[in-house]
Amino acid sequence: MKDETLRYFDNSGFQEKLISWYQANKRDLPWRQNQDPYRVWVSEIMLQQTKVDTVKPYFERFMEKFPTVHALAEADEQAVLKAWEGLGYYSRARNLQTAVREVVAEYDGKVPKNKNELGKLKGIGPYTKGAILSIAFGQPEPAVDGNVMRVLSRVLRISDNIAEAKVKKRFEAIVSEMISKDDPSSFNQGLMELGALVCTPKAPLCLFCPVNAYCRAFSEGIQEQLPVKSKAKKPKRVTYLVLLLKKGKEVIIEQRSEQGLLANLWQFPMIPMKGEMDAAQAEKWFEAEYGWSIQIGKEAGELKHVFTHLVWDLKIFEADVLYASDDTRLKSVNEIEISEYPFPVSHQKMMKFL
Ligand code: ADE
Repeated sequence: MKDETLRYFDNSGFQEKLISWYQANKRDLPWRQNQDPYRVWVSEIMLQQTKVDTVKPYFERFMEKFPTVHALAEADEQAVLKAWEGLGYYSRARNLQTAVREVVAEYDGKVPKNKNELGKLKGIGPYTKGAILSIAFGQPEPAVDGNVMRVLSRVLRISDNIAEAKVKKRFEAIVSEMISKDDPSSFNQGLMELGALVCTPKAPLCLFCPVNAYCRAFSEGIQEQLPVKSKAKKPKRVTYLVLLLKKGKEVIIEQRSEQGLLANLWQFPMIPMKGEMDAAQAEKWFEAEYGWSIQIGKEAGELKHVFTHLVWDLKIFEADVLYASDDTRLKSVNEIEISEYPFPVSHQKMMKFL
């Protein structure tokens, strides 16, 4: 079971240096105030795919609005999405609320300490599970994300492709061996902190690194060649015509589908453009889709929005309603009401064109 790479590695020296550095240098972050598993959970979900500085204000506001598992379980989904507005990857918020409701229903509102139970909750994968178990409950479980793989690929000079699932599993097995049994929380958070502050993707600060004496990549001067990661394929591009559609003093918005990208968020109506499409064709498309007759006016601007695997090119047009049927997807709101609805960032940016 032991990974070959650890055979000649001085792990107890490494643990000690890493943990004492972490204790002395850890940032004062809002989710480090205590070990409440709910707080740790929310912070780890927010920190997936999002930087610490961005997360901080969201985390504090979220905790004021939904301070306990019960508060979040009972909240309206739209209120949760509104609190998440701008963070992106909104399924994280929906899954978190689903999971928290399960914790209330099945576990008397207590976040399970048992790894199988915890790992079955919606949105809790191996990383989040390990982070909660180690940070909140002091269990020696690995919490391996891209940052941890970068640090350890350098320290242990591992040139496996970190984009592969089996390589992440290998790192989990390695951390299971390496992790301190006395202080798993500081060990895991020390790796995260080292990745954020010292062992950065570009130009790592090896001369200031507390574990440089243990780092095989540093001893060979190849730290910037690691980790090895295969390039993601080019994202797909799609063009939409977006309507700032006016009905008197009000504007028309619609709710996105409950499945898929940006599920259940609100937006200005979007017409997918296949090849060339002029205003008359777009008006016809809209009438066929919603039964509303509209007139498209002048262009108000353009926006590009980049998702992980997708790029939206958005052409924004003013438009007026000529005839409204009772399609229930479309909703007419005034400028005060619109602020109650959660919008994706790309559509928030369009509000200035209104
Ligand atoms: N990134 C992921 N989890 C983190 C944590 N607990 N502290 C700082 N950065 C993190």
